[in-house]
Amino acid sequence: MTEKIIVIGSNGQIGTELVSELRTVYGGSNVVATDIKEPDYDTKNAGPFEFSNVLDKDNLRSIIEKHKPTQVYLLAALLSAVGEQKPKTAWDLNMNGLLNVLDFALEYKIRKVYWPSSIAVFGPNSPKEQTPQYCTMDPNTVYGFSKLAGERWCEYYFLKYGLDVRSLRYPGLIGWKSAPGGGTTDYAVHIFHEALKNKTYECFLSENTELPMMHMSDAIKATIGIMDAEASRVKIRSSYNVAAMSFTPESLAEEIRKYIPDFTITYKDNGPRQAIADSWPKSIDDSYARKDWGWQPEYDLPGLVKNMIENIK
Ligand code: SER
Repeated sequence: MTEKIIVIGSNGQIGTELVSELRTVYGGSNVVATDIKEPDYDTKNAGPFEFSNVLDKDNLRSIIEKHKPTQVYLLAALLSAVGEQKPKTAWDLNMNGLLNVLDFALEYKIRKVYWPSSIAVFGPNSPKEQTPQYCTMDPNTVYGFSKLAGERWCEYYFLKYGLDVRSLRYPGLIGWKSAPGGGTTDYAVHIFHEALKNKTYECFLSENTELPMMHMSDAIKATIGIMDAEASRVKIRSSYNVAAMSFTPESLAEEIRKYIPDFTITYKDNGPRQAIADSWPKSIDDSYARKDWGWQPEYDLPGLVKNMIENIK
């Protein structure tokens, strides 16, 4: 069966790389990039593009009727830091955007839906080290509890209506092809650009703030991996923990100094993003993803830093 795929939120940090990988796998014309804004030249020219607003049901319906997708990836969302500045907007977009897509998926018999969750679903009372799949979850950011509620909705649509919806709890994602926006883990991308340009970086998290992180190419591999897996192997229909590495700003800076010996880092960690980071896990237990559908990351910290430096250069 030929897949026809719609990606909603195709211009973002994940969407940019996901669309290009999906087009390699499924063919450019079978992957429709959609976003609220005009895409860059490459995305626009490698396959179809539509303007989409996930909160506008008429717009969504017309895109679905025109392209008749077999799969939808919903990536449009406000992330953790910007969500705290616009709490109601974040809730509206993250929640009603998901519900609109789930309802259309049922109505148009879309075979599979992908929706990302995040380590932000955990909160201050979740275990910090090797945070398990199932534990206390008391997220205190709008982003975090919109993702947790979204996970509940995904599982509900699977159990109640048989919708094949699949999801991953991404850690901080680090890649050189696209820029992050509005997140708490964004420092781990910015640091490379500043290190190469100015040999110095002012970090908005403290030197010892340890967070789970992943190279973007591993995140894309995990995403396509769970979407390609036999339905019977996807046993968790809320969202899977996935992990690759954990590090602090200081240990990242140390690794960068292997390439840029005079790189310096300073810390201005009294802002709102520090509080968000402090409420999140330091590391993640992803044994269910490994066991159920064979998840395995490729990049560790040294591999990630080498890849980022070589490519941004
Ligand atoms: N990277 C995201 C953020 O920092 C977490 O999902 O908001």
